Amino acid sequence: MTLSKTLASKTLASKTQLNLNLSKRPRRLRSSEAMRNLVADSYVQAKDLMAPFFVVPGHGERQVIGALPGVSRFSVDQLMPELERCLSLGIKSVVLFGVVPELQKSFQAEAAYDPNGPVNKALREARKAFGQDLVLITDVCLCAYTDHGHCGILKSGSRGYTIDNDTSLELLAQMALSHAEAGADLVSPSDMMDGRVAAIRQVLDLEGFSDVGILSYAVKYASAFYGPFREAAGSSPTKANSNIPKDRKTYQMDYRSSLEALREAQLDEEEGADMLMVKPALPYLDILAKLRPITTLPLVAYNVSGEYAMLKAAAAAGTLDEALAVQETLTSIKRAGANLIVSYYAQEALEKGWL
Ligand code: PBG
Repeated sequence: MTLSKTLASKTLASKTQLNLNLSKRPRRLRSSEAMRNLVADSYVQAKDLMAPFFVVPGHGERQVIGALPGVSRFSVDQLMPELERCLSLGIKSVVLFGVVPELQKSFQAEAAYDPNGPVNKALREARKAFGQDLVLITDVCLCAYTDHGHCGILKSGSRGYTIDNDTSLELLAQMALSHAEAGADLVSPSDMMDGRVAAIRQVLDLEGFSDVGILSYAVKYASAFYGPFREAAGSSPTKANSNIPKDRKTYQMDYRSSLEALREAQLDEEEGADMLMVKPALPYLDILAKLRPITTLPLVAYNVSGEYAMLKAAAAAGTLDEALAVQETLTSIKRAGANLIVSYYAQEALEKGWL
């Protein structure tokens, strides 16, 4: 007060007379909590959050995941109370990822479409327990089931091993079909092979599952932020031998590219996707914002494992307020244009009243 008075009298007032038009003052609408609530336009509701789960074979399994504090892998019996908890918190949808022991993995990923695999068992149990109350979504991808950790089948040729797009489509469609048979509402291909939405749509329709939808990971970038997930699912391609690509850059998108995102989204919509996903979320909010006006389909953003782990690490180190950071993070994803958010924070944020 005194300082500004002194400054004003010594500097400004003595020389120049300020002549500003301050009739417009945005701060008026920030003057109280009630006023801010009145004009806010982005909210996260419980039903906007999709909770991801890792499902393993066996009974009584609750396996802690080192890279994802607070997230565990569950066998089907242990998963059921977790799904119940989601419903009681107001969460309306879950995304199931299967994880099988190394011994069950193979070159052709047979375990991916095993009707008695953990995801298919979980679907049958969840449908029995919760009827239509919970929307059951399944990840469709081969990486957790191939012995090399790639999202598609390999073929060898003059350039060494490469990912065989078209053969992979048949297996992905078979996997999606097994999920539809077990009761999935939406199958969610995350493999990034060309044409997989069309292939899955065709097989589902031919087999009588025209009511099962496709949530396509339409815009999925090759990202460093999937690190913790790959530990959780045991799906890293880096374990492959030296003739096999060590990353997913020939199928997941290059993060220097934005036009391609529009093209991928358009193609998946034409092929019959019912919802489109952008993944990861935070480094790609610009992509969400660009997609929002060009599609009428619901947009989903995946706030991936690395984004979750970063916040957890910062919170554990005491460098930020976790509740506020999570609230801000999830709201920013909605503000950018997402209708729905897959988040490892879904249950905790709702339980602790952070939203
Ligand atoms: C499978 C898949 C991945 C994720 C979702 N589905 C990993 C990957 O592509 O390597 C990542 C999710 C996350 O990091 O939370 N293809």
